[in-house]
Amino acid sequence: MCSIFGIIIKQKTETTPIESTLTALKMLEYRGYDSAGIASKGDKALQIWKTQNKDNKAEGVDMLRKQMTEMGVISFPTQIVIGHTRWATHGEISQKNAHPHSSQDGNFAIVHNGIIENYIELKEFLRSKGYYSVSDTDTEVLVNLIEYRWNETGRISFEVAVRQAVSEIEGAFAIAVITSSEDKMIVASRSGGLFVGITAYGFVIASDQSALVAHTKDCFEVESDCLVVLTPEKYEKRTIVSNQEVVPDIKKIELEISQIQKNGYEYFMQKEIFEQPKTLTDALRGRVRPFEGIIKLRGIEEHLRRIVQAKKITIIGCGTSWHAGLVGEYLFEQFTRIPVEVEYASEFVHRNPILGEKDIVIAISQSGETADTLEALALAKKSRATVIGLCNVVSSKIARMAGVGVYLHVGPEISVASTKAFTGQVAVLTAIALLVGRQKGTITESDYMRHITELAELPSVVEKYLPYFDIVAKEIAYEQLHSDHALYLGRGYNFPVALEGALKLKEISYIHAEGYPAAEMKHGPIALIDEKMPVIVIAPQGDETYKKIIGNIQEIRARSGRVIAIATEGDTEIVSLVEKVIYIPRASEHLIPIIAVVPLQLIAYHNAVMKGLNPDKPRHLAKSVTV
Ligand code: AGP
Ligand code: GLU
Repeated sequence: MCSIFGIIIKQKTETTPIESTLTALKMLEYRGYDSAGIASKGDKALQIWKTQNKDNKAEGVDMLRKQMTEMGVISFPTQIVIGHTRWATHGEISQKNAHPHSSQDGNFAIVHNGIIENYIELKEFLRSKGYYSVSDTDTEVLVNLIEYRWNETGRISFEVAVRQAVSEIEGAFAIAVITSSEDKMIVASRSGGLFVGITAYGFVIASDQSALVAHTKDCFEVESDCLVVLTPEKYEKRTIVSNQEVVPDIKKIELEISQIQKNGYEYFMQKEIFEQPKTLTDALRGRVRPFEGIIKLRGIEEHLRRIVQAKKITIIGCGTSWHAGLVGEYLFEQFTRIPVEVEYASEFVHRNPILGEKDIVIAISQSGETADTLEALALAKKSRATVIGLCNVVSSKIARMAGVGVYLHVGPEISVASTKAFTGQVAVLTAIALLVGRQKGTITESDYMRHITELAELPSVVEKYLPYFDIVAKEIAYEQLHSDHALYLGRGYNFPVALEGALKLKEISYIHAEGYPAAEMKHGPIALIDEKMPVIVIAPQGDETYKKIIGNIQEIRARSGRVIAIATEGDTEIVSLVEKVIYIPRASEHLIPIIAVVPLQLIAYHNAVMKGLNPDKPRHLAKSVTV
C-alpha cells in the first residue's frame, strides 16, 4: 500500500530531482492515492509540500505538481528528495496526515509504508519527553522518535538515530528518511518491497521497480530487517538489529517502459482488458504444447509427484485471486479428483487449519505482496504441506516465500481492478489441473489432448470476440445499469465468474452488486428483484446446468426482473426471455470463465467511465493491499 520514491544525486540531471519525483509518484499513484507529498533537503532546512485527494478524484500528484509549479519550486536546487502517495491506515485523509511527516523540530522528514503497531505506547513515551504529534498518523511518531534518539545520542549520527528508532517499532514497514544536517538518505524495511536503483548520477529508491526504469535497470532490494544508507556517491546496506554489512544482490529490472504506459488507451484497465489475448498467450507460451501433446510447467516439475499424490489441495487468496481459486476448485476436482478447499487468506490464518505432509497449498496473488495472503502462506509453510505460489510479479514476496510456483507472465497490472491477472490465473490453473490429471490417470488421453488444444486456442478466441464484447458491454453499461444494485448469477464454473463480475462492478462503478449461485437466488436474494433490478445471468449451453439456469431466468421474469444473459452463440431460445444477450462462443465448460468474464469486465469499465469515474483508481482502494 502507498508508494515511496526518493532520489539522491551527485551531479546535475536532465530533469530536476523534484520533477523526477513527481513523475515517479504519478506512475506509482495506483498503489495509494489518498494524498501526495514531497520533501527535499535545502541548504539549511527541509522543505515539504503536500496535497490531499479531493472528491475521490485520485489526482493528488497532479494537484501537487500544479501547486509546486505555481510556487516555482519544481527546479528548486536540491540533491535529495523523498516523495509519497498514501493509502491511509491511521488518521483520516487530510493534508495534515499526508506524508512526508516532519519531526517536531524539523530536523528529519519521513515517508512510510505500513503500520507501526506500538505507536500508541511510543506516542505516550514521546509526549512524556515533550514531543507532540501534529497529525493522527502512526508515521509521525516514528519521525519524532528518530529525532528524540538523535538528540539523546548527542546528535552525532543520523544513522544511529534511525537504527535505534526502527528497532523500537513493531509491525511491518518500509521507510525513507532524510535530515537537514547530513547529505544522506536512509531507507529501511521490515517487510521488503523497497528497491534501490543505481544510476550514473546517484541513486533512486522506489516501492515498485516500475518507477526505477526511467532512471536505471540496475537495482537491489532492501530486504526485510535491512537498512541502506545512501549518500550521493555510495550505498551501504546493513542489517537493522545486528548492524552487519550485507552485500546487495544487484539484479536487472526486466521491464520495458512501454509495459507501464497506457499505449494509446484511455485507462490502464481498458488497456489490460484488451491485452488479454496477448497475456493469455504469454501465460501459456512454451507451457501448453498441443503439437507435442505436453504441458510443461518448470516451476512445479520437481513437485509433480507430491501434487499427484496429494490428499487435499487448499487454495488461498483474496479478492479476484480468490475468485480464480474458486474456478481452480472446479478444475482440480474435475480433472484430478483431489478434494479442494478455497479459503480467504485472511480467514485461513484464524482457523488453525489442518494441514499435513500430503497436503498442497496454492497461494494465488497477482502482486505477490498482499499481506493477508503472505500471512496465510507463512502459516502454511509451518506445516509440512507443499506450498505453491501463483504470482504475477516476479520475485515478489509471496513468490519468494513459496519457493515453488508458476508465474503468470501477464505483464504489469496497473489498474486497481484486476482483469488480465484473473484470466492468466485461471489459464495457469487449468494447465496445472490438466497436467496433474493426466499424470494421475483421472483424465483420458483423448480428453487431455482435446483440452490442451482448446486451451492453446483460447487467446485467439478471446481476440476474435473482444471488439464485439466491447460494443455490447458498452450498450449494457449505458442502457441497462441505472439501478444502484445488480445481481450476478452463475452455476458451476460460472458461479465464481458471477462473483468476479459483481466485484468489478462494485469496485469501480460503486454499484452494489452481488454474485450468487443461480439456484441460491430463491433462498433469499429473489426478494430483491423488481422491475428496476438488473440481473446478469451467465447461461452458456453445453452442460447440465443450462436447463436449470433457464428455469432461474423464468423465476426472475415472473417477478418483473430485468435479465441480461451471457449465452452461447446460436442460442435463439434465450432471446425471448431476456432484455439483452451477449453471445460467447461454444467452448468446453471449464474454459467458459476465461471467456465470459471479459464482457463483465467491460460492463464495469464502461459503467465507471460513463459516470465520470476513473476506473484505474477507485475510491478507498489501492492496488496492493500490504497491510
Ligand atoms: C481486484 O479487482 C481487487 N482490486 C482485489 O480484490 C485484488 O484481487 C486482491 O486485493 C488480491 O490482490 P493480489 O492478487 O495482488 O493478492
Ligand atoms: N500508516 C501510515 C498512514 O496511515 C502509512 C500508510 C501507507 O502505507 O500509506 O499514514
